[in-house]
Amino acid sequence: MNRKEQINLTEQFVRTKMANFDGGHDWWHVMRVRNMALKINSIEQMADSYLLEIAALLHDTADSKFMHGYAEKSYQEIKDFMSKSGMEGYIDQVIKVIRNVSYSTKDVSGNSKDPVLMILQDADRLDAMGAIGVARAFNYGGFRNRPIYDPDGQYPGKGGSTISHFYDKLLKLKDMMNTPAGRAIAEERHIFLEHYLKQFYKEWNFAIQ
Ligand code: ADP
Ligand code: NI
Repeated sequence: MNRKEQINLTEQFVRTKMANFDGGHDWWHVMRVRNMALKINSIEQMADSYLLEIAALLHDTADSKFMHGYAEKSYQEIKDFMSKSGMEGYIDQVIKVIRNVSYSTKDVSGNSKDPVLMILQDADRLDAMGAIGVARAFNYGGFRNRPIYDPDGQYPGKGGSTISHFYDKLLKLKDMMNTPAGRAIAEERHIFLEHYLKQFYKEWNFAIQ
């Protein structure tokens, strides 16, 4: 099987695996992250683009938020899939990268210098910023039935409101970029997040005084 066929097969595998994820983690998120990762790599020339593409396609298929304790089973399915598709030589590196790409599990195995991981992390984080980042945050908040904003900070559920997620995570991403190309895109998207919050509070305070 040639590399093009392996990439096509990986796309099909990912589409099936992610069919029930929320709208912020759907196939289009994977497409955006894959294309952004390849774009960053075309500027930085750091990583093997075939390995980067495979890792980008697979990066959310074992997300524990949707696996309800079955993430390890999903990792095994990814390994089985790669091995039967002629990609056995890349299993270890791809699994290591996708275990570490998430914001919450960063740098667990100390491989943050892997250029595939550095670029993929930037691409994934960029998709949580800017206008698409705002859309994904509110979509995820709705999926978890969280309030959009809780001015008194009284919301009892864990995680709080979606606006609080901006402070917990989204506004921190700009300073976590690994590559100069990623950082440049993050600057613009960060400014948009700040504008968005400013307008949000303006409208909120106009209505509720
Ligand atoms: P990562 O896998 O990089 O840790 P997540 O899967 O946690 O990222 O987040 C994916 C998307 O869901 C992002 O756009 C993120 O902002 C959004 N998201 C995650 N947790 C929350 C939350 N508590 N409230 C709103 N959005 C969230
Ligand atoms: Ni992702």
